[in-house]
Amino acid sequence: MDTKGFKFNSKAIHAGHIHDKSAGSHVTPIYQTSTFCFDNAEQGGKRFAGKEEGYIYTRLGNPNTTELAEKVAQLENGECGLITSSGMSAISTVLIGVLKKGDHILASDTLYGCTYTFISEMLPQYGIEVTFVDAEDLQNVQDNIKTNTKIIYIETPANPTMKVIDIKKSAEIAHRAGALLVVDNTFMTPYLQRPLELGADLVVHSATKYIGGHGDVVAGIIVGSRKLITMIEPYLKNFGGTTSPFDAWLLMRGLKTLGIRMKTHCENALIVAEYLDKHPKIKKVYYPGLKSHPQYDLSQTQADGFGGMISFELNGTIESGITLMNSVQMITLAVSLGSVDSLIQHPASMTHAGIPREERIKSGIGDSLVRLSVGIENIEDILADLSQALDKI
Ligand SMILES: Cc1ncc(COP(=O)(O)O)c(C=O)c1O
Repeated sequence: MDTKGFKFNSKAIHAGHIHDKSAGSHVTPIYQTSTFCFDNAEQGGKRFAGKEEGYIYTRLGNPNTTELAEKVAQLENGECGLITSSGMSAISTVLIGVLKKGDHILASDTLYGCTYTFISEMLPQYGIEVTFVDAEDLQNVQDNIKTNTKIIYIETPANPTMKVIDIKKSAEIAHRAGALLVVDNTFMTPYLQRPLELGADLVVHSATKYIGGHGDVVAGIIVGSRKLITMIEPYLKNFGGTTSPFDAWLLMRGLKTLGIRMKTHCENALIVAEYLDKHPKIKKVYYPGLKSHPQYDLSQTQADGFGGMISFELNGTIESGITLMNSVQMITLAVSLGSVDSLIQHPASMTHAGIPREERIKSGIGDSLVRLSVGIENIEDILADLSQALDKI
């Protein structure tokens, strides 16, 4: 069935679907196998030589990952996709696959922690030059382009201040310099933002988050043109960052409801952001859907919604953050994001506790900053839980 002309939810349900004829299974079975049998030696030879289509060994390809890759490619409006064992595997595979010794990467200074570490500490070990800039100001990006710049790398919106970067203009700068724009689209998902339509060359995801959506799988996604994906694929196969058939199957299941989940995440998050914005115990709320957010207009032009992630600062100390964490009842105290249930964390006492205070504050993580991934529970229950927890501070 040609699903390319379908609307988002129909694509999310039908694109890539493999009709397994062996038992007439309605849902694609889990091809939980490490290897695939050949009819004879000649067939094995042809498959290895790429002269016959078919599977060989799950690290090199499996029906569950094929199906999923086709679905995510269609949802992101790209030509091809790859499924990886984690979001970090997607990011590292893209960067190692594209960059060569002597190349330069220009990255936003606001990135997921492990991405920042990979770029700042590991890429230089392979002879790759690295510059971080505040990419919200495109002049910084333009001014730091070098003749050897091969990638501009951004995440938008980005933690902790939910800073929004102009994807279209970043792509124009990259292309004028002969470089590629790579966008981490984890926070928005293709339901809300499709960077390839805005000129980006490659999109990466931590599928662990909204794509899976239920907090039960760790995986990643890469989407781009056939040419770029063909170039990157051998790095995935040879570094071995492929995902398991069962995880791919769980992602398939999660993706089918991505649209309806994201709609509710967005609706709930806006109500929570407005509630917190007026709350006397809150100093500042960072959410692109608030008119006070500096890139409210840009968010509206490049995305179809504002997402489910909110950061906020309490009027208080590090202790206030700890008290809030210990007072929530329905909202789960955990890192990660994008699950059906609301997740809350306090970076100063948890994820960033090991970073010297001054350095942490300089990177925008204040003592009382809280990150909330707003779930799809009933909004009344989310507000009631926040309200009783804030009363304890
Ligand atoms: C924006 C973003 N990108 C990438 C990652 C890494 O993903 P994973 O944990 O699936 O490797 C994360 C994880 O939290 C993230 O938030």
